[in-house]
Amino acid sequence: VDLTERTTLGLPARAEWFVRVSHREALIRALEWAAQHDLETLVLGGGSNVVLDTFQPGLVIEMAIMGRRWSDVSEDRAVLELGAGENWHASVLYSVSAGFRGLENLALIPGTVGAAPIQNIGAYGVELSDVLVSVSVLDRHSGQVRVLGPDECAFAYRDSVFKREPGRYVVLDVRLALSRSRPVNLSYRELADWLDGHQPETLRAADVAEAVSQIRRRKLPDPALLPNAGSFFKNPVISRDTFERLSAEHPDMPAHEVEDGIKVAAGWLIDQSGWKGHREAHVGVHSRQALVLVHHGQGNARELLDLAARIREDVNNRYGIELEIEPRIYPLALRDGW
Ligand code: EPU
Repeated sequence: VDLTERTTLGLPARAEWFVRVSHREALIRALEWAAQHDLETLVLGGGSNVVLDTFQPGLVIEMAIMGRRWSDVSEDRAVLELGAGENWHASVLYSVSAGFRGLENLALIPGTVGAAPIQNIGAYGVELSDVLVSVSVLDRHSGQVRVLGPDECAFAYRDSVFKREPGRYVVLDVRLALSRSRPVNLSYRELADWLDGHQPETLRAADVAEAVSQIRRRKLPDPALLPNAGSFFKNPVISRDTFERLSAEHPDMPAHEVEDGIKVAAGWLIDQSGWKGHREAHVGVHSRQALVLVHHGQGNARELLDLAARIREDVNNRYGIELEIEPRIYPLALRDGW
């Protein structure tokens, strides 16, 4: 089965076996079948954060477990349960149009609900972990369905237990805590500037979601028009010493303090190294956001990863900072060196 159109990078990829599952029993049957035939498995959501090599051995499972359900509804609060196969952005719009706050800063992030906890999606001052109540998963070690709370998910910046133990858990559904009265989060400078002139108390969640969507559309390429996987690198966290040394030389380097050091903008490092808008035959660096690698067509995973490796090496030579890749790479063998 051809997977090319099933990832937002649109790199040529073919699965040995493929199945789409829309309920738990079908998922369990598919995993059993793969085990009987000694096949590797790969669960795919919206394909917006993966780099696939041309051939995926084993069984690729497209997650299509749907459903939206409200629970614990009070005057102010509610929990929204979403099936892993639901589209993320549609779910954000659904929650904000119901008058609830919590997901608005995460508008227009591509992909599915089930993929959201894997990399702990985050944007404009909010991360999924800020609103997550629990995730139901199939634990492939025990074969049991388990409900993991936020601590068990071990969330960190673009990281979670799901990324650290690849293949162990299949996300089935996600529960999110929403509120009508929670203050909107305008901590991200660019978002506050965009909404300048508005009283935060009068802003509806839908207004914030719309502002976030406009900002994203301005600088992030629409995968339907220019295939990409969003940020290709994580923003690196460096030590205070390294930061002080670098910022003496580069006083305009964007950075902010986090728990374990100083987080600097990978997009800025790549941009300053001259890569923004760089174009090769089939792959390149986006012209409005250097953190995003793009596929111009006719390329493949190896060309893209080769470009990423050259960018990483160049940034390392100039700044002594080792960039880490953000999307997940399959098959695992292709991940060597990252
Ligand atoms: N910058 C440049 N040149 C560039 C890109 C960025 O100088 O080409 C500078 C900007 O001027 C700014 C700073 O770098 O001072 C940060 O840029 P921006 O606000 O665009 O955010 P980012 O750090 O590049 C992160 C996330 C995005 C998320 C935005 C908004 C990561 C890896 N990326 O990008 O997430 O939308 O913040 O919160 O953390 C994604 O993960 O796919 C993604 C798009």
